[in-house]
Amino acid sequence: MRVLAPERRVDFAAIRKDFPIFQQKAHGKPLIYLDSTATTQKPVAVIEALTHYYRTYNANIHRGVYAIAEEATARYEDVRGKVARILHARSAHEIVFTRGTTESVNLVSNAWGRKNVGAGDVIVLTEMEHHSNLVPWQILAQERGATIRYIPFDGRGKLDLSGLDRLLEGPVKIVSLTHMSNVLGTVNPVAEIARRAHAKGALVFVDAAQSLPHLGVDVQQLDCDFLAFSAHKMLGPTGTGALYGKREHLESMPPFLGGGEMIREVKLEGSTWNEVPWKFEAGTMNIADTIAFGTAIDYIEKIGFHAIAEHSRGLVTETMRALGEIPGVTIYGPPAAERGGIVAFTLDDIHAHDVATVLDHEGVAVRAGHHCAMPLHAKLGVAATTRASFYVYNLPSDIEVLVEGVQKAKQVFHR
Ligand SMILES: Cc1ncc(COP(=O)(O)O)c(C=O)c1O
Repeated sequence: MRVLAPERRVDFAAIRKDFPIFQQKAHGKPLIYLDSTATTQKPVAVIEALTHYYRTYNANIHRGVYAIAEEATARYEDVRGKVARILHARSAHEIVFTRGTTESVNLVSNAWGRKNVGAGDVIVLTEMEHHSNLVPWQILAQERGATIRYIPFDGRGKLDLSGLDRLLEGPVKIVSLTHMSNVLGTVNPVAEIARRAHAKGALVFVDAAQSLPHLGVDVQQLDCDFLAFSAHKMLGPTGTGALYGKREHLESMPPFLGGGEMIREVKLEGSTWNEVPWKFEAGTMNIADTIAFGTAIDYIEKIGFHAIAEHSRGLVTETMRALGEIPGVTIYGPPAAERGGIVAFTLDDIHAHDVATVLDHEGVAVRAGHHCAMPLHAKLGVAATTRASFYVYNLPSDIEVLVEGVQKAKQVFHR
């Protein structure tokens, strides 16, 4: 993990006021939002950036020579530069806009995978992947006759790397793994795994859907070949996100989707492709949301990734301590110092949905279920967990309400 410079103290109570959604109540109680792993709330600046685009310079990009089209193009491309900056990419040409993490994985599994993965080849994943970083590779493996191997995780929810050399033996083409588990909160040693995978000639794809918002990432320090994330998990609008790819890989890959914008020249006999990254941005992209995502990046940068990580860690530490005192609560994953802002737990044999329903009536929004990680839950031996996750608008008082709600669930179900 990149060691980010410490920043000044941040007033998170003031930050919460920037989020209009917290002005409303849920079941007559103040809304306590603890599901930022699924999607984050949006500050007023991001919401206004969306309406500002539609009110003042709505136009298609890269095509018009008139003023508002040029403004839209400039602002859209400006966000590419901001994304390159927060990822520490070498160039904005290494940033492809997509609908988010899921589409980024599918882009690589299709465009890179179909060219580079054949019968008998091996793809290495981990047992803690979100379905987004599992199913696309399964589809590819099935289609190409490749096999998938999984890096296991241990009883503490950490990857067990003792068998990694064996897993990397033979024709391993790519290792694709999450940087931070969306259930256990575990932060994986991506740089070490990348070094060992590269030594065996395999590429490395990183799912940064959780790590980028919570910790910040540095693609050069991780030395990953590809990295994916979603804007909506870091204060931006839904329907946009990005794929980072080392330029040489993006250059050598065929297009993912065909259509307008991604071409250089089209003849009836055949077509040639635009340069990267536009080769991968077919059709009209999500212009408004991408531009508003740029505003989200500005907002996050003002707080600083270091401050966000510290804030989440404080909230997670207190949540684990307080929930851990309730008899019957089982918390999954590593200690607070080794995880991001996520706590998944079970309460006796009460179903996670029942716990979440009691919490909902207290105004607390948590997620219950398998969190798109069924193999992970199968390994934990539970069908579902209740998950609380934090972001910049959460405060210690939210944890008090959460803990009271969990105690209430225990009483309601007489455990
Ligand atoms: C680790 C991880 N990967 C991938 C995804 C999928 O993200 P999206 O639905 O934005 O494509 C998520 C969403 O929860 C996630 O937490």
